[in-house]
Amino acid sequence: MKLAVIYYSVTHNTSAMAEYVVQGMNSVEGVQARAFSIDAADADFIRGCAGIVFGSPTYAGAPSAEFCAFLEKDAKKFAPGGKLGGAFATEQYIHGGATNAIMDILRHLLVLGMMVYSSGSACGKPVIHYGPVQVSPDTRGYRDLFITYGVRFARQALKAAGQTAAAQPDSGGCVLEPAGPGDISAVFALYEKRVRWMNEKGIRQWNVTDYLRAYPADYYEQQRKSGNLWVMRCGGTAAGAVVLKQEDGRWPDRAGSAAFYLHNLVTDPAFPGLGARIIREVEKLAAGKGKSFVRLDCAEDSSFLNSYYESLGYRPAGFCRDGAYKGIRREKAVQTGGVR
Ligand SMILES: Cc1cc2nc3c(=O)[nH]c(=O)nc-3n(C[C@H](O)[C@H](O)[C@H](O)COP(=O)(O)O)c2cc1C
Repeated sequence: MKLAVIYYSVTHNTSAMAEYVVQGMNSVEGVQARAFSIDAADADFIRGCAGIVFGSPTYAGAPSAEFCAFLEKDAKKFAPGGKLGGAFATEQYIHGGATNAIMDILRHLLVLGMMVYSSGSACGKPVIHYGPVQVSPDTRGYRDLFITYGVRFARQALKAAGQTAAAQPDSGGCVLEPAGPGDISAVFALYEKRVRWMNEKGIRQWNVTDYLRAYPADYYEQQRKSGNLWVMRCGGTAAGAVVLKQEDGRWPDRAGSAAFYLHNLVTDPAFPGLGARIIREVEKLAAGKGKSFVRLDCAEDSSFLNSYYESLGYRPAGFCRDGAYKGIRREKAVQTGGVR
């Protein structure tokens, strides 16, 4: 499925947000998304799209005049009727009118016969009421919000096209999304809850390795800032989390290979089976991003974990040591268009 983002931008805030939305869209399996400035829009590509997101800077509390003119005169060239539509805006001041600009764009989309989508409160936090807003010039701080919006828009477009089952066979109503700044306390609480659960069950794992001190909340914030922390949201609740690295010192012989290295996988014990669903989503994400492998390591002496990963298709690929930790490395091949 093809999706497009069309924007107007003079000082590169709106264009940067457009690229983040596209990044989120392209992380969804089966989606091919591109961003276009209004003066360089590829009509053939956009006509073939199932959905279009429109983005404008806020000028005098409304979309820029150039963008309004584009919506009035040119947008109909892209056969928008019946397509999924969304909007975002950038502004310089926190009450500078970006929400008004978004509503104005959405009004145009309705007139063009598009089905409008915001994600709203239905996806939980971050709640995006009408469309995401960036307060310029902070580009990096709004990255996760716009990527998340792109992920949600793409999933909704697949759903509207009846491709949900094929695209998300076992997501079970849960969505794997990049973590936002507001997720860290909920994510860290998952590890604390899991350690308490291990104590109660008499399982010797993170509770005997000082895991919470080795990986404090700051660590997850650093991973989030690097784009590595992902949250599995079920009905708006952060029910699981995972860190996905692009390189891993435990795999020096595989440096530079296109892989996700899976770390710190955690789930809320109240969501049985969620770990396998997160791994499945990670594999789809990896395939969609052109990775060839998902790799992980687990404690050599844990027969439970080794059998678990074996059952999910993770084959032994050597050993690693990190201080007192002795691990077995495991990997699974994935390929674009599906998981092997
Ligand atoms: C003519 C003009 C009018 C603007 N009006 C507003 C405004 O009403 N409210 C606001 O918050 N920012 C306003 N801005 C700031 C822009 O919305 C903001 O810097 C935006 O991120 C620029 O987008 P760009 O970098 O993609 O060009 C205005 C900027 C210009 C040039």
